[in-house]
Amino acid sequence: MNKEAIDALLQKINDSATREGNARTKTIVNRIVRDLFYTIEDLDVTPSEFWTALNYLGETGQSGEFGLLAAGLGFEHFLDARLDEKEAKAGLEGGTPRTIEGPLYVAGAPESIGHARLDDGTDPGETLVMRGRVLNDDGKPLANALVEVWHANHLGNYSHFDRSQPVFNLRRSIRTGADGKYAFTSVVPVGYSVPPGGKTQQLLDQLGRHGHRPAHIHFFVSAPGYRKLTTQINIDGDPYLWDDFAFATREGLVPEVKKAEGADGKPYGVQGNFALIDFDFALVSERSDVPTTEVDRARAAA
Ligand code: DHB
Ligand code: FE
Repeated sequence: MNKEAIDALLQKINDSATREGNARTKTIVNRIVRDLFYTIEDLDVTPSEFWTALNYLGETGQSGEFGLLAAGLGFEHFLDARLDEKEAKAGLEGGTPRTIEGPLYVAGAPESIGHARLDDGTDPGETLVMRGRVLNDDGKPLANALVEVWHANHLGNYSHFDRSQPVFNLRRSIRTGADGKYAFTSVVPVGYSVPPGGKTQQLLDQLGRHGHRPAHIHFFVSAPGYRKLTTQINIDGDPYLWDDFAFATREGLVPEVKKAEGADGKPYGVQGNFALIDFDFALVSERSDVPTTEVDRARAAA
């Protein structure tokens, strides 16, 4: 079909609306359908290819892997990049770089003040202490900020989604005290891979891509009056550090992992050798002229 014929068909479809509906939804869906009609025409997509794709999406939804797919196809990083651009255009600078939330957050983790232990002592990974402060635009410590942290275990699996782990394993919320300090004791995570044989891996295979992420630790950092920060730090030295299938590694989010031992571990109840990461989070003040960093998204809860 030529473009005029496609446009006439689209017009007919759009004109079939007899009720107002939702203007924003109409604009977006009509645009997506138009772009897909053009794609089908330009690439001469066959009916079998179309139904294979539709079936793939249905199965991906059933498997609960759409969040993984969104990360793997770069959508989640793209949304970050757009928010970065909007902030830069509004002259909003500074603060710890954001990076993707990923699909594996679980709401409701136990909260403590100042310090938390994330593991239950059964994970054979290397002991990790991560500590630092939450700072404001002026570099002043922020009391009563909330640091929500979650990461994978020594096999690259996340509690809740991996039912073999205890509830909220490697997930905690830590409130900063008056000194703005947070600290946690845990085990060094290893890299994550999308489920082998899953729907995301199936598409990545067709694209000639891998589904690995470098070892990383997720954070939401929030405080009243400040823009919520969604970010991660990466474990330096991971072979996938700059080859993340979700494109989330960024300069400024790869802190040094120090080797520590002895007295350094005492405040955290840690003995012997351990890995130590010092990392401060910087928040920027909320502003009404820049889109919010609070994202509406269905999230697991336990
Ligand atoms: C995915 C997994 C993660 O652990 C993460 O942080 C982001 C994305 C994923 O499988 O898409
Ligand atoms: Fe993750």
